Amino acid sequence: MTETDAGLRAVMAKIADGYDLVPYKPKDKGSPGLDPALLYGIAGLYGEFPLRRDIEVLDLGCGTGGQLQRVGGLTTGRLAGIDISPVSCEEAARKCAALGARCTIQCKDLFDLDLAGLGQFDLIYVLGVYFVVPPPVQARLIEVVSTCLKPGGVLVISYYTGEVWRQFDAMRRAVQAVVDRSAPAAAQIKTARDCVQAMAADGKSAILARLVEHSRKGGETTFFHEMMGEVLAQTKAAELEAALAPAGIHFLNLLQPGPVPSTDPMARAAAADRVSMGGYLYGVFGKYDPSRPAEWTTLFWITNLRRAGVSNVGIAVFQDAATGGRVEVANSTTAVALDLLARGPRPWSEILNAMAATPAGLAYLTSVKRDFISFWHQGLLTPLAQI
Ligand SMILES: C[S@@+](CC[C@H](N)C(=O)[O-])C[C@H]1O[C@@H](n2cnc3c(N)ncnc32)[C@H](O)[C@@H]1O
Repeated sequence: MTETDAGLRAVMAKIADGYDLVPYKPKDKGSPGLDPALLYGIAGLYGEFPLRRDIEVLDLGCGTGGQLQRVGGLTTGRLAGIDISPVSCEEAARKCAALGARCTIQCKDLFDLDLAGLGQFDLIYVLGVYFVVPPPVQARLIEVVSTCLKPGGVLVISYYTGEVWRQFDAMRRAVQAVVDRSAPAAAQIKTARDCVQAMAADGKSAILARLVEHSRKGGETTFFHEMMGEVLAQTKAAELEAALAPAGIHFLNLLQPGPVPSTDPMARAAAADRVSMGGYLYGVFGKYDPSRPAEWTTLFWITNLRRAGVSNVGIAVFQDAATGGRVEVANSTTAVALDLLARGPRPWSEILNAMAATPAGLAYLTSVKRDFISFWHQGLLTPLAQI
């Protein structure tokens, strides 16, 4: 082991100790927003990503196993969780025991993983991990996902970025300067909370106020790790795209999509990096060929939009039944498609048939697809993957 290796292992041991002392549990039951049907729905907009019930799922830095438990209830294939913290792994194994032999939890540092033995997966989660580890571990995460994602597979990486990250980092530095790291966890949290409250009390920064609110809602464990953790790195989607592209893995979009419907992954990644203020984001990636046009064959769509009349210049107006928001739909073929969707979720193939039966046929297909993507960006339509 070189001196650098030894230094890195020491940092990793400290990180593991932190997660042993206070196991990380905010996503104790997993996130419904990260379900395979939603992630493969996003992926299906850009390439061919067929979703099967028996997909194989890997969770790197699985913590206490909430996401694996959730996804295990939705799938029938192999599930694997890896984490360096023995306390977290024990809880993950207990929580996932009901899934039986198809789910394994390995208590390992990512550097000690036998990638050939691990095999390949259809869906890989890297949640709350990329930004809490130093650059060599980030590079190892890139290596692991590059090796372990199957063609047609989907990857999610969560990360901090932008002004939100910058102020968060400043807040951490101030907190770490006053907290006695040898004190019990509860005492550390109390000092840190007092320090953060004092910073927020000057009321000058809206972001700081939001971060304080976030740390209040996230509970003790998130607060402890985000404030006292060894690392809280900033990441750019464009950097991830550049690092993963050699393995044929490309940025698709953010989970809460960014504004650019480009077919070029780097253009989408650069657009994601311009999202105002940044924040805590989920980047969705896929292993696919971006030069092949996406046919949307695996998608079905859901909307709350309902036809609500015409504007004073004769353009169809739709209203979101959930939010009351109104949108004008100038393309009459798009309006026909939305009328069909108003009756319930429909596969893209059925929407295509309905459009083909209109007088214009499929002449406006490209602009209908553009409208769909734009409505998705606005939160008015949701693409889901069919199984
Ligand atoms: C913030 S927690 C996130 C846990 C879980 N993914 C979630 O979202 O709830 C980060 C996790 O990464 C794990 N971790 C950090 N460095 C690691 C490494 N080198 N190898 C394996 N796991 C690591 C920690 O032990 C911790 O459980």
